[in-house]
Amino acid sequence: MSSARIKELTALIQHHDHCYYVLDNPEASDAEYDRLFRELQALEEACPNLRLPDSPTQRVSGRPLSDFEKARHRVPMLSLANVFSAKELEEFDARVHRFLDRPADERLEYFCELKFDGLSINLTYENGILVSAATRGDGEIGENVTQNVRTIKAVPLRLLGKNAPALIEIRGEVILPIGDFEKLNQEQEKKELKIFANPRNAAAGSLRQLDPSITATRPLSLFCYGIGFAENIPENIAKNIKIKTLAEFENQLEHWGFRVGKWRKVAHGVQEVLAFYDEIEKIRDTLPFEIDGIVIKLNRLAEVDQAGYVSRSPRGMVAFKFPPRQETTTIEDIIVQVGRTGTLTPVAIVSPVNLGGAIVRRATLHNQDEIDRKDIRIGDHVFIQRAGDVIPEVVKVITEKRKGHERKFVLPDTCPVCGSKAERKGGEAALRCIGRNCVAKLKERLRHLVMKDALNIDGMGEKIVEQLVDEGLIKHSADIFKLTRERVLELEGFKEKSCDNLLEAIEKARKTELYRVIFGLGIRHVGEATAKLLANHFGSLPHLMKAGTEDLLAVSEVGPEVASSLREFFEDAQHHKEAEDLLAVLTIKAPARASKEGGLKFSGKTFVLTGTLPTLSRSDATRFIEENGGKISSSVSKKTDYVVAGEEAGSKLDKANALGVAVIDEAQLLRLI
Ligand code: IVH
Repeated sequence: MSSARIKELTALIQHHDHCYYVLDNPEASDAEYDRLFRELQALEEACPNLRLPDSPTQRVSGRPLSDFEKARHRVPMLSLANVFSAKELEEFDARVHRFLDRPADERLEYFCELKFDGLSINLTYENGILVSAATRGDGEIGENVTQNVRTIKAVPLRLLGKNAPALIEIRGEVILPIGDFEKLNQEQEKKELKIFANPRNAAAGSLRQLDPSITATRPLSLFCYGIGFAENIPENIAKNIKIKTLAEFENQLEHWGFRVGKWRKVAHGVQEVLAFYDEIEKIRDTLPFEIDGIVIKLNRLAEVDQAGYVSRSPRGMVAFKFPPRQETTTIEDIIVQVGRTGTLTPVAIVSPVNLGGAIVRRATLHNQDEIDRKDIRIGDHVFIQRAGDVIPEVVKVITEKRKGHERKFVLPDTCPVCGSKAERKGGEAALRCIGRNCVAKLKERLRHLVMKDALNIDGMGEKIVEQLVDEGLIKHSADIFKLTRERVLELEGFKEKSCDNLLEAIEKARKTELYRVIFGLGIRHVGEATAKLLANHFGSLPHLMKAGTEDLLAVSEVGPEVASSLREFFEDAQHHKEAEDLLAVLTIKAPARASKEGGLKFSGKTFVLTGTLPTLSRSDATRFIEENGGKISSSVSKKTDYVVAGEEAGSKLDKANALGVAVIDEAQLLRLI
C-alpha cells in the first residue's frame, strides 16, 4: 500500500516540479504541493527501504564535500567558434557549403537558438535516472557536482516518458535568472559576503559550493540543448523516435522533461539566421535570464557529422555573439565631474576597452559610498559593464590582481570647478557643489536643456556649449535664444555657414512643447515621462511653478520624492527666475500626444499588468496605457504585446515567459512613450 502511494507521490511531485520549473506553468498551489511533499516525506521516513532512487525529497542530500571529484566525460565537451558580424556569419556559411560540398546558392538548414550565458554541464542518465552531473572542466575531465545539480528543480531526476535510453549524456547550461542574481547580491552585501560580478559568475559560484545545502538556496535553473554519449543512439532513437535533426532532438528533450529555450527556429540560409539574430537582440532585455548571443547549428545531425570538427569545435556550428556588455580593464585615474544639479561624481578613467561595440574610456563610480563599498582604488583591475544605454559603471574589483601599489580615493569637500563648498544633504549619497555660479553646473544644465528629448537644438553639442559659456556668451539658459550672428561669428571655428546652421537650429527649437521645457529644466527625478505627465496635468509652466506639494501629489503618478524635488527646485529663486526667463523667450505649442506616424503610440497594442509596480498604481498604469491608445487585458495570451511586471508578479509572468511574450518593467513602459 505504502509502496504504491510512494510511487504515486514521487511521480506526482515530479510532475508538479516539471510544470513549475520547466514549463513555467504551475498546476498545484504551494499549499497542495507542500501537502504532497510532506506526505511523501512521512511515508519514506516510516519505510526508508521503499524510497525511490529519484525521490524528490532527496534533491538536497549528502554531506558537504572537502573537494570535488574529477569526472571524465564519455564524449568530450566541445566548444563553439564565434562570429561577431553578418560578414563573418556569411564566411562561416560559405565554409560549411564547402565542407558539405553543396552549391553556393543552396540555402542550408540551420537550427538557431539562444546562447545561454551560464556554465555548461553534462548530465548522465542511466535507464532514465540521473546518476551524475559534471562541469565542463577542460572538455575531457570536469568536476563531479552531482549533489549540487540534484538541487536544481529544473533538472529531472528521472526522464519522463517511456523511451529512456540505457545510457545518455545530456548537455545544457546552468543559469541564475537576473532577478535572483540581484537578490542574491543584496543578501551577500548584507552578510558582507562576496558580490558577484554577473549572473554567470553567481551561477558558477553557486554550483561550486562544497555544501549542497547552500546550492539548494540559490534558484539555479538549467536549459538543455545537446547530447553527449548515447548508448545505442542515434540508431535507437532513429528507430523509435525518428530523430534526424536538432529541432527534433530538442523536442525530444522537452518530452523527457528538460527545460529547452523557447526561442528557437529552423532557418533556411543566412538571411533567415540574421532575421532571428535581430529578433533576439530586440527582446534580449526583456528576458529574465542573460544570453550572450545566438547559436547556429546545422539542423541535420548527419550534416553536422559530415562537416566534421576542427580544433575541438564542430565546423557546422557557430556562436553569433552579441557585443559584450561587460569587460575587464584597469583604472588609470579617478576624476570628479560636476553635474547639472551640482552633484560631484567620481569617474574612473580606464584603459580603453571595447564594450558593446564602442570604445570605453570612462566609467562612473557613482559616489563615495559606492567607492568604499566596492573598495575601488586607482590602479585596480576591474569589471566594467554597460546595462542598456547607460554610462558604463565599475562593477567589481578583481582583488586577486592587486599588486600593492593601488591608491585609495576620497572625494574632495570643495567643488573642483568653482571652489565652493560641497555638501552632503541628509541621507543622500551624493556630495553637491553649493556654488551659485558654478560654471560646471551651468554647462551641464545647458547640455541637458539642448538635448534631443528636451529642446532638441540640433548641432549644439558639448564642445559648442563649452565654448559659448567659456567665452561669456551664455550666463543663463535663456541666453541661448539671445545669441546674435555677430557674437557667434567672433568665436573660433565658426564660419558663416556653421553660424547660420546653429542659429537656425535655435530658432527652430524656440517653438516647443511644454513637456520639453519641464524636462529640459533638469529637475531631479523628473525624467521625460514624468515631464509629460506634469505637462498634461498642469497645462502651463506657471501653473506647475505655483503648484504646492498637495497639488503635485494629486497627479497620481507623482510621489513624495518627485513632489519635493519640484518644490525645492521652484522655491529656489535662481531656478525660478531661470524658468521664467526661459519661458519669456520660448513659444509653447499645444500638447500633442499622438506620435508622428499618426495615431497614438500604443494603438493596437495589448498590455497585461501583474505585480506591484514601483511608482504607478494599477489605475495610474492603466490610465497611462489607455491615454496612449493601448488596451488592457486581464489575462496573458499569444496576442498580448507586453506584460508589465512589478514586485511579486504571479502566474501571469510565468505564462508570459512560457508564451515568449515580452515582459517589461515600469521604467521600460514609460520609456516606450
Ligand atoms: S551547443 C560543441 N547551444 O556555449 C558545443 N552551446 O561557446 C556545442 N552554450 O560550451 C554547444 N548556449 O556552454 C550550445 N544553445 C546553446 C548554448 C551553448 C550556451 C554554451 C556552451 C558551450 C559554449 C560555447
